[in-house]
Amino acid sequence: MAGSATAAIALGYLLPAGSVELTLEELCTASPLNSRCKDYLPGVQAKDERGQPIQVNQLLPTVPPGSRVAAKGLPNPPIVYLVVTNPPMIAEYAISSVCTHLGCTVAWKADQNQFVCPCHGSRYDNQGRVVHGPARRNLGLLTVVVKQNQVRLVDHQPAIDPRVKAP
Ligand code: FES
Repeated sequence: MAGSATAAIALGYLLPAGSVELTLEELCTASPLNSRCKDYLPGVQAKDERGQPIQVNQLLPTVPPGSRVAAKGLPNPPIVYLVVTNPPMIAEYAISSVCTHLGCTVAWKADQNQFVCPCHGSRYDNQGRVVHGPARRNLGLLTVVVKQNQVRLVDHQPAIDPRVKAP
């Protein structure tokens, strides 16, 4: 991934202004339904807490709608939370586990429907919005692409922030 980003930056210096194309990763992250992205798997495969690849057809029947499912795969943040919607689908975004106060790892508390930080008590709602400090900023979001029965984690802001209400 870093190599393709480096190549894209290098191309930016070699090509005349205005002629730089998106990398396939950038294109397929922003527009996963683009015809060039049919067989392309962006990002990294999400793994469960035991390090096993998460398979969509195995996960969805086992978790209730509204669940937040811990997933690994990216170096940073090392743990993200997948969002299972109702009806059961995996949302196109995941919630970072890195507390925005001082960087501790928050935990999902299903019985409280909140993310809770063990270090200084910050709390976030089920979308990662701060509901109790000392944290002041919401948890970060990452892009999720579900394809070929895989859950792919892409270290990129989702195209739409589900926490921003449409005007
Ligand atoms: S690091 Fe999470 S509340 Fe301080």
